[in-house]
Amino acid sequence: MPHKIAVIGGDGIGPEVTAVALEVMRAAGADLDTTDFRLGGFRYLEDGVILPDEILKELRQYDAILLGAVGTPEVPPGVIERGLLLKARFELDLYINLRPFVLPGGHEFVVIRENTEGTYAGEGGFLRKGTPDEIATQGSVNTRKGAERCIRYGFELAQSRTRKHLTLVHKTNVLTFSGDLWERTFQEVSIEYPDVDTAYNHVDAACIYFVEDPTRYEVVVTDNLFGDILTDLGGAVSGGIGLASSANLNPDRTAPSLFEPVHGSAPDIAGQGLANPTAAVLSGAMMLDFLGDTETSERVRMACQGVPTSGRTEEIASAIHQNLVGEER
Ligand code: IPM
Ligand code: MN
Repeated sequence: MPHKIAVIGGDGIGPEVTAVALEVMRAAGADLDTTDFRLGGFRYLEDGVILPDEILKELRQYDAILLGAVGTPEVPPGVIERGLLLKARFELDLYINLRPFVLPGGHEFVVIRENTEGTYAGEGGFLRKGTPDEIATQGSVNTRKGAERCIRYGFELAQSRTRKHLTLVHKTNVLTFSGDLWERTFQEVSIEYPDVDTAYNHVDAACIYFVEDPTRYEVVVTDNLFGDILTDLGGAVSGGIGLASSANLNPDRTAPSLFEPVHGSAPDIAGQGLANPTAAVLSGAMMLDFLGDTETSERVRMACQGVPTSGRTEEIASAIHQNLVGEER
């Protein structure tokens, strides 16, 4: 049975990199039945459609969603991000955002970013907007359930790995409410995993360690906004954002999970054949993994090793293809 995949190429370089990801997965032996969904900033500009509930309902019929990138400078910030990507994350309950990194020296670590709460929940508003007395608030929503399921996922993942090490990253010295909830939950859940070693870092310190001493990390768990920022840094220290892949997971499998590169739509280089497709290809590998096709996933991942980290899309894509053929010999 082929995997039924909904493909949202999206904006900018999104369609270019997803096309390569699909070609590589198929060349590696993945049986994919794909359907393209024309969604993104470009579609919004055409007819105002972002992600209506009917389309979301359709997406639920698929085994997984592969997304390129969304957002375009012609649309005000937040419209497509909130209306499409965040809506999908929230409505499909994709509560884990998994972002693995491989350092130049070979060390691998993974960041688990909470994906449905925090400042991303969108709580807040304006008062007297545009006047000198303007007030803007932006809340952060943290539920015990939301923190716990994310932290528990972290312990499970850490337990399955060799070092069995899990670091909580937060800012408990300033965020004394949400940080307290996260830290208490972390402590309580840790009792159930006595074989997992734990550590805690404030997010500002974690930024230093990500650059100066990232080998201290094996599995990191953190809230939505810290995870967003920290994983861009993770990408930057592990070969560049052109290699960083991610999985938005619904671990309970009550809805399809969504796989996308960490990078954005990069409108400045769109359509010029200059996008690095590796992050999208590796996101495809994460998708195959989650769908249980671990052998094909491994083949795709291996084929991405040692390919140029910059250059033209075509050259990088053909280097990946050549590695695939090389493996078969
Ligand atoms: C990411 C992106 C998104 C986020 C944007 C596009 C809303 O930066 O996936 O990291 O902030 O989560
Ligand atoms: Mn981001």
